[in-house]
Parts: sequence; C-alpha cells; structure tokens
Amino acid sequence: MVIWHQKIALYRDIHSQLHALEDACPHKGVALHKGEVQGCHLLCPYHGWEFNGRGECAKIPYFPPEQKLPLAKARSYPVQEKYNLIWIFPGEPNLADSTPLPKVPEYENPDWLRVPIPAHFQAHFSICNENTMDVFHGFLHRGLQGWFDPVLLHLSTGDGYVGADYRVSYQGWITKWLGIGHGGDQVTTRTVSIRYQYPHYHSSLEGVSSLYLMRLPIGKTETKSFSYLFLKLPLPKWLLKFIKPQLANLIWRFLFKKFLDQDVQMVESEQQTYSANPQRHYVEVNPAIIALQRVIIQQYDLFREKPR
Ligand code: FES
Ligand SMILES: [Fe+2]
Repeated sequence: MVIWHQKIALYRDIHSQLHALEDACPHKGVALHKGEVQGCHLLCPYHGWEFNGRGECAKIPYFPPEQKLPLAKARSYPVQEKYNLIWIFPGEPNLADSTPLPKVPEYENPDWLRVPIPAHFQAHFSICNENTMDVFHGFLHRGLQGWFDPVLLHLSTGDGYVGADYRVSYQGWITKWLGIGHGGDQVTTRTVSIRYQYPHYHSSLEGVSSLYLMRLPIGKTETKSFSYLFLKLPLPKWLLKFIKPQLANLIWRFLFKKFLDQDVQMVESEQQTYSANPQRHYVEVNPAIIALQRVIIQQYDLFREKPR
C-alpha cells in the first residue's frame, strides 16, 4: 500500500499482530510485500533475509549462527486496528501515541445502521477535502439529495481544524421517511455540522445521520477514502437487526454510490484542469472552504519543514 508516495509492506504475524514496514529491503531494495511471513518475521523474496516487526534484520539464512548480522533496518510504522480499519501513522513515530484516532461512538451502538463507503479519486487530497466541506454543490446532486437552501450558520477554526454548521431545509415525503416531519408542504430545517480535524472528517445531520470520512492521500493526483455512514432509520429494531447488512448494501449501491460517482467526476475534472495549468486562479466564495485551504497549506508547510 502507499501513503503519500511512501510504499508500505503490511503483514500479519503468527500471533495475528499487524506490522507495517517500508516496502524496500535494506539489502537491495526489493519490495518486501512480495515476500512471505514466517512466524513473527517477514522474509524478503530475493535472498530470504528476515525482518522483525521493528524492521530489523533478524536472520540471514546463509549466515552461520555465530556470524554477526549487519545493521540493516527497514523503517517501521506504528500501526493499529480499530473500527475494522487498519490505521498506519506515517509521521514521526513517537508522535503516534499522542495523535488520537477519530472517535466513532456509533460503531458499537446497535441503533445505528452502518454503511461502509469506499472511494477512489484520481485527484489531489486537497481537492477531495474541499468537496466534503462544500455543501453548496447540492446543485450537482439535485436529482438525489433530500435537502435544499443551505446557509452557513457558524464557522470555527483551530489547529488543523475547521468546523462549519450549515442550516438545510427539507420538504415533502422525505421528511416523513427520515422521521423529521409529517411529509406535507411544511419546510423542516436541520443543521448539518461538518468537522474537519486534519486529515479526517466527521459530519452529522442532526438526528438523522453521522458520517466519518477517513482520507488516504496516495500521490499528487490520487486519493482514497474510507467512510462509515451511520443512519438512524425509523424502522422497528427487531426488523433492523435482521436486515442490516443487506440494507446497508442496498443503500450504498442504489443511493450513495450515485452521489459518489457524481463527486468523483467533478473532483477529477477539477484535477485535470489544475494539472493542465497549475498557475491558473480560481474564485472561491465559501468561507469554510477558504478556512480549509488555509489548514491544508499549514499542514503542508509543517511537512516541508520536517527534517527527513
Ligand atoms: S534484496 Fe532483500 S534479501 Fe536481498
Ligand atoms: Fe457531493
């Protein structure tokens, strides 16, 4: 796998423990992910040197046991599993413990329906992030989306952080379906809260849904994301319990995949225009997007200042 141009070999040892090593053997640079796991070690496919989870060379198969091993070490990355996802920390390893993972309280709560949403964009991380902060592109989703007339109510910023609250309006049958109205002509308003804490998102629609979006930058024009959308549907609990996986799959395939495909087209188009002429200027009018752009630039400056 790749995180921002860094190739990483991920392996699970005999005790089911995960390890993440730089995907380059310190002997000759061969990709370690093509090797094999034996016990707690990852063996390089070329000469069979063995590496432990810290990336240290622990054995060279053609050395007699008494021969001293060379100091050969592949970089290792802090890695953990939570919420059925694998989290690798690609930064300074001793900062990993003080960098918390997003908290997802809905994950263990049976009242919520969880819809996993994977996505892959041929576009830069920042272009994808702006798409998520931007509720004014409801125009794009007008055939699919339930709400209309977004208004930015409140914007807050902090260290690596942007929070925006938008008021949105609902009308008609969808209010009944979501359990927030009576389905008539009356307009019901709700608040959409979007919280960006670099590099991940949490957004919630008051009492209806909660979305955690984890973003994985791969390269300058490629990004992946892994999202969990939690929905509270006005269905009896016993029924929900039986149909959860099927329902999640249907909602993903027939509703959210359509949204996502529309977004993918837009961000990839934006990327293509940018790549053709990076000097070109654009006109942004949403203060939340401008705040987000500042955060991303600050993070990039920190990355550039880092000794490597
Ligand atoms: S290149 Fe990996 S053991 Fe030789
Ligand atoms: Fe969208």
